[in-house]
Amino acid sequence: MEKFSVKELYQDYLKLENKEITIEGWIKNLRDSKTFGFIELNDGTFFKNIQIVISDKLNNFKEVAKLSIYSTIKATGTLVVTENAKQPFEIQATNVEILSECDRDYPLQNKRHTMEYLRTIAHLRPRANTFQAVFRIRSVAAFAIHEYFQKNGYVYAHTPIITCADCEGSAEMFKLTTMDLKKELPKTKDGETDFSNDLFGKETYITGSGQLHGETFASAFGKIYTFGPTLRSENSNTKTHANEFWMIEPEISFCDLDELMDIEEDCLKFIVKRVLEQCSEEIEFCDKFIEKGLKEKLAKLLDSEFVRIDHKEAIDILKKADRKWEFEPDYEEDLAKEHEKYITEYFNGPVFVKNWPKDIKSYYMKLNEDGKTVAAVDLEVPGSGEIMGGSQREDDYDKLLERIKEKNMDASQIQWYLDLRRFGSNVHSGFGLGFERLLMYITGIENIRDVIPFPRTPKNCDF
Ligand code: 4AD
Ligand code: MG
Repeated sequence: MEKFSVKELYQDYLKLENKEITIEGWIKNLRDSKTFGFIELNDGTFFKNIQIVISDKLNNFKEVAKLSIYSTIKATGTLVVTENAKQPFEIQATNVEILSECDRDYPLQNKRHTMEYLRTIAHLRPRANTFQAVFRIRSVAAFAIHEYFQKNGYVYAHTPIITCADCEGSAEMFKLTTMDLKKELPKTKDGETDFSNDLFGKETYITGSGQLHGETFASAFGKIYTFGPTLRSENSNTKTHANEFWMIEPEISFCDLDELMDIEEDCLKFIVKRVLEQCSEEIEFCDKFIEKGLKEKLAKLLDSEFVRIDHKEAIDILKKADRKWEFEPDYEEDLAKEHEKYITEYFNGPVFVKNWPKDIKSYYMKLNEDGKTVAAVDLEVPGSGEIMGGSQREDDYDKLLERIKEKNMDASQIQWYLDLRRFGSNVHSGFGLGFERLLMYITGIENIRDVIPFPRTPKNCDF
């Protein structure tokens, strides 16, 4: 008796017609009458279940028929092709071994649950259809990202998690220490916390971006990318912010802002294409139960050319809009969620917003000739808002130093970063793709908490 996975059976059922096969898995559903019954079985390898027909010819029919869902069994039987039925084949069981019985108070019974409830059982929710779809898409998308960069000649760089360098603002970084926080902390002469006897001998953080270290690798390998967990301590309780998320950060030498946008667009389309090819059952499910029209939206993305507008033009459009804003659009300010939504709906698709006022953006972005804006670009998409944030980097040593001083930062911690502008400086650019925001866009899921296995958000770290 050969053992098969659900996926293998779906791939090969025509070849296995009338053969005896064995399969192990969890009971997802069980319907029975006096003399026969149907078990829907899954082993996690494929989105669809397999139907196993049981009858009172089994010596343990009664025990099997009263099994609760999520009990595990090993079933052996004949594979019968059922052309006109809902499922293309079924297994007529000749033997069913009960491996484990699931307790009756199993919290994930077969009925509709709210997403909020499912978050309270984060250890069990990967078994629910929605999460079967979301997390398989997550896995396929992650691999597609590696595939995209590898096939285009990028080197995968592992940047450190522990850092003393400030990229996106130290206020957003978790502090790291081995000092005993229950005791009074040592102070310096100036009354500041004294880190000199701490493990690293100075103040350290958990990184909020791999970009600075990524730039060092780009100056050696030309094109690199990172892909890893990112931590930010911001107290933002929204549907699109998490304190732990995954980010992909490519960095490209000899590349300006226009070329960067070409890469961003190409990369996003590649990922979507792969997911559509490899997760058709999952996307079908998301289209039906999560976001109606999802498939069409994604297909349209592949065919479209993303709009590219300046921040100023975006504000012009917002100011002309015939509606009231909670936050009045402003040429000197960031886009609020409501603005992002309006702009993406206005163009009915992804929009690059570029050349932002310098005061609201990070120090490392290339100052434009106007002296007022920087060569930054955010990609806004309907639903998730900003999914990519990138820029051409300031490659002039003196201008970069000036910007660091303007922001009252300590240049001594990133002298090595400044040095890249002395030793082989070049026009270079990079971006950060928020992996969860991308998944929200691809699956239609509305809350970031439901596209990451164990979400970490303000006041929530339960598993
Ligand atoms: O715009 P951000 O802060 O840019 C950077 O970190 C740059 N260093 C990237 C670079 O140029 N290499 O973050 C990049 C992306 C955002 O566009 C967003 O998709 C995501 O990361 N992101 C978050 N995702 C979830 N939760 C949060 N709190 C996020 N903050 C940013
Ligand atoms: Mg950003």
